[in-house]
Amino acid sequence: MVHVNIFDTTLRDGEQSPGVNLNQLEKLEIARQLERFGVNIMEAGFPASSQGDFEAVRAIARTIKNSSVTGLARATKSDIDIAWDALKDAAEPRLHVFIATSPIHMQYKLMKKPEEVVQTAVDMVKYARKNFPQVEWSAEDASRSDLDFLVQIITKVIDAGATVINLPDTVGYTTPAEYGRMFRYIRENVPNIHKVALSCHCHDDLGMAVANSLAAIENGVTQVEGTINGIGERAGNAALEEFAVALNIRQDFYPYTTDLVLKEIKRTSDLVSRFTGMKVPGNKAVVGKNAFAHESGIHQDGVLKNTLTYEIITPELVGVGSNDLVLGKHSGRHAFKDKIEQMGFELEQDKLNEAFQSFKSLTDKKKEVTDEDLFTILTDIQTSGFDVKKYELVAFQVQYASANLPTATVALTTPDGEKVETARTGSGSVEALFNTLDALIKEEIHLTDYSLSSVGRGRDALAEANVKLTVNGVNVSGRGSAQDVLEASGKAFINAVNRVFFNQKVGVKEPAAL
Ligand code: KIV
Ligand code: ZN
Repeated sequence: MVHVNIFDTTLRDGEQSPGVNLNQLEKLEIARQLERFGVNIMEAGFPASSQGDFEAVRAIARTIKNSSVTGLARATKSDIDIAWDALKDAAEPRLHVFIATSPIHMQYKLMKKPEEVVQTAVDMVKYARKNFPQVEWSAEDASRSDLDFLVQIITKVIDAGATVINLPDTVGYTTPAEYGRMFRYIRENVPNIHKVALSCHCHDDLGMAVANSLAAIENGVTQVEGTINGIGERAGNAALEEFAVALNIRQDFYPYTTDLVLKEIKRTSDLVSRFTGMKVPGNKAVVGKNAFAHESGIHQDGVLKNTLTYEIITPELVGVGSNDLVLGKHSGRHAFKDKIEQMGFELEQDKLNEAFQSFKSLTDKKKEVTDEDLFTILTDIQTSGFDVKKYELVAFQVQYASANLPTATVALTTPDGEKVETARTGSGSVEALFNTLDALIKEEIHLTDYSLSSVGRGRDALAEANVKLTVNGVNVSGRGSAQDVLEASGKAFINAVNRVFFNQKVGVKEPAAL
C-alpha cells in the first residue's frame, strides 16, 4: 500500500469561490474540523492578499497542532516574507509558492520569457528555504505547459530546495490519461525527482477533477490537493470526500491509504456548506442528501432484500446518522452538553449558556429538535460575538394581504447605539423587509442574491436564508436562521452588512489577483 498525503485548500482555493467570504471565526472552525478529518496539510489562505487573510492564517497556524499549515505566496520576496510572518508559529510551517509555466500564462499574464520564469522560481524557492523547512513549488497551468520546459524548471527548483512539486491542472482542461502521462514523464525525466514528493491539484471545469487526481496517484503522485464539497474557483476543485471514499470503496483497485477519518466527512461537509452558503446539491456524490436514498420500486425492493444490491457506500461510513431525533422540551443542561459534545462542538461557558437558551426557546416552538436544528443554532453561536459595533434587529413587523401593498416596519440599533425605525413597501414581503432595512442602514447596499431553504423536514422546520450584497462596493454574504422565513431573511441581510464592520476591523481589502 502506498500512503497518500491529503492537502486541503478549502480555506484558500475554496474561498476563491464566487461570493464566498468567511470571517476569521468561521475559518478557525473549519480548520479545527479539517484537523479532526485528518488532513495532512491545510492551506489556510493567501497571507499577502489582505490583512484579514493574514490574521486568519496566523490564527490557524497558532491553533492547529496535528496538520501542517501552509499559506500561498506569489513568487515575490514580499509575499514570502508576509507568509513567514503569518506561519512562523505553526507546529509545522510550510510555504506554497507558485509561478505560471504555460506559454499563454508566461507571455500574456506574467509577460516574462521562459528563462526569466526559471530564474524567478529558483530564486524564490531558495529565498523561501531560508525560513521554511518545507517549500511546495507549483507550476501554475502545468497541464498546458511544455513537458520539456517542466522537466527543466522542476530540476532547478528541486536543486534550489523545493520539497514538494505540485503540477496543477489550473483550468480543468486535462483528462485522466493525459494527466497521468504528464506525471510519468516528469518522474522518468527529472533526474532529482526522487528527492521530492509529487503533488496533483485539479480543477473541475470538465467534471474530471477527481478522476484526474486518481490517475495522478496511479502515476506516482503521493500528495492530492482538493477541497471539501469540491468548492473553488469556477467549477471548483477535486472534492476530497469523493476522492477519499473512492479509495476506500475500491480498495481492490487502488492500493493507497490516507490518514483521513471518513466518518468526519458529513460534519466537515455540513460545516463548509453552512459557512460558505454553498449548498450541496442533492445528487452530489458521497455527501448529497440523495446519495443514500433509493427511489425506484425495483431499487427499494433490492435494498430491502440485500443492501449491497444498490448501495455501495453505507451512510455510516461517512458519518451520516440513521436516527437524528434528539433532545426535547424536558431535556436538561447536562444532556444538552453531552449531545453537543457528541456532535463535535466545544463551546466556552457563555456560548454554551446562549446555546442552551436558544435550544430551550426552540423546543417551545418546535415539537422535535433534530441534529440539523442543533447544528444550525450551534454553528451560528460558535461564530458569533466578534467584538465590533454593528446593527442589531430590535423588532420588525410585515403586513401582507393579497390585495394590499406589502409593508414592513423595522426597528434597529445602529453601530453607534442609536435606535432607529421606519417603514417601507415592496412588491412582496421580503422586498418590503429588505427595502426597510436598506432605508435604515446608512451604507450603499445592493442585493445580488437571495435564497431560502428549510433545515431538515417538517412543517415546523427552521428556515435558513442566505443573501449576497455589495455594501459600499464590497461583496459580502450573510446567513440567518429562524422559525419564520422573514425573520431568517432579515437576520441574513443584517449579518451580511455587519461583516463589513468586521472586515474593516481586521483590515480585509479586495484580494490580490492571482
Ligand atoms: O489552480 C492552481 O493552479 C492554483 C495554484 C495557485 C496552485 O490554485
Ligand atoms: Zn487551484
